[in-house]
Amino acid sequence: MNILIVGSGGREHAIAMSVSRSPVAKRIYCAPGNAGISEVAQCVPIGAMEFEKLVSFAKEKEIDLVIVGMDDPLVGGLVDEFEAAGIRAFGPRKNAAILEGSKAFSKELMKKYRIPTAAYETFDDAKKALVYLETVSYPIVLKADGLALGKGVLICNTKEEAVEGVRTIMEDKKFGDAGNCMVIEEFMTGREVSVLSFVDGKTIKIMSSAQDHKRAGDGDTGLNTGGMGTFSPSPFYTEEIDEYCKKYIYQATVDAMAKEGRPFQGVIFFGLMLTEQGPKVLEYNARFGDPEAQVVLPRMKNDIIEVMEACIDGKLEGIDLEFEDNAAVCVVLASDGYPLHYEKGLPIFGLEHFKKDPDSPDGGYYCFHAGTKFDENGNPVTNGGRVLGITAKGSDLKQARENAYKATEWVQFENKYMRNDIGNAILQDKI
Ligand code: AMP
Ligand code: GLY
Repeated sequence: MNILIVGSGGREHAIAMSVSRSPVAKRIYCAPGNAGISEVAQCVPIGAMEFEKLVSFAKEKEIDLVIVGMDDPLVGGLVDEFEAAGIRAFGPRKNAAILEGSKAFSKELMKKYRIPTAAYETFDDAKKALVYLETVSYPIVLKADGLALGKGVLICNTKEEAVEGVRTIMEDKKFGDAGNCMVIEEFMTGREVSVLSFVDGKTIKIMSSAQDHKRAGDGDTGLNTGGMGTFSPSPFYTEEIDEYCKKYIYQATVDAMAKEGRPFQGVIFFGLMLTEQGPKVLEYNARFGDPEAQVVLPRMKNDIIEVMEACIDGKLEGIDLEFEDNAAVCVVLASDGYPLHYEKGLPIFGLEHFKKDPDSPDGGYYCFHAGTKFDENGNPVTNGGRVLGITAKGSDLKQARENAYKATEWVQFENKYMRNDIGNAILQDKI
């Protein structure tokens, strides 16, 4: 099969690596890709939002399957475009990707179908939102309705902060049109877990759980980022919690989307908060998480293409998802200053340490590229805030963590920055 992956981050590198292991994959392309992805796929300089170019490229190269990794093109309807051109594509159509594309939509869906989530109100008028702030208790959470690179969520400890937040989102439009409408919701406390799943419109199969570290600094301090590191599985995601979520959240979401005439095919990412009253949905994403994919996919035993095709064909029921009985940890190497200001174009050294087949006996190490490219001399340089996702497996989380941190030392670039406490939670009380 000829396969085209759309996207350019660590998640797409992890997807590309899984695809490259599929016995049915013949030619693999990635648009636009990055320096690391070019080792497993042919990268083509077409942006993820250049729908027409992507479709004509897919026709020209006789692509049998397109995999859309990123949220923007999914929410913008890229899968619909491919389908209209008679090309099979993995990922939700536009009318289903709204599950991630609009927080107002997803909250209303959860309310209507009684799926556990934080209590909330929706506003498309800043004045009404400000009046509402007089009546709530603090902290409170403000969310821009649309996509905002994971940055459209403000946790406000006081009314003053919240008033400022409403102005930022709805009046100053810091997140652009994403802030035309906003959700104000109850603040929840608990541990967060990411659960990814494959969905074929009616059946849902859950992948191994993971946990992200969203803040830039150690001890969950500093600004929110796209994610500074992950581990999988999460020891906090117990069988009891899994049973609860299967009963009240997972299938309920898939059924709700089908009932609304928006059958969901692709990956649903459930961002869960494990509260004292039980698990509640923080957010839905309509794609693999980044950097969750980097710790979940290397542990998946199935042929990813077979699973994706089953999703497209509505045949997921016949697939048993299988994961290795081990653990993985991903530590993101960023450019110092991320997520605000950082330099690009800095040479990266030491990547040859990761050349070994990760499945070989002395393997188990992966260097997923997030923001990299080749310079004019063909040498890898940094090209983004998050640069690399150093991932290692181990027999358990502790071992995987040790391996991942060891491997972070193999790579060097100027201004290299990482958190030193990825997976610390797993070293503490729980195991
Ligand atoms: P989201 O993009 O909706 O996942 O929000 C980003 C982050 O904000 C989440 O991962 C949580 O850490 C935090 N967050 C979002 N909603 C809430 C909430 N209702 N209560 C507490 N924290 C929240
Ligand atoms: N790691 C969180 C996300 O992909 O949105």
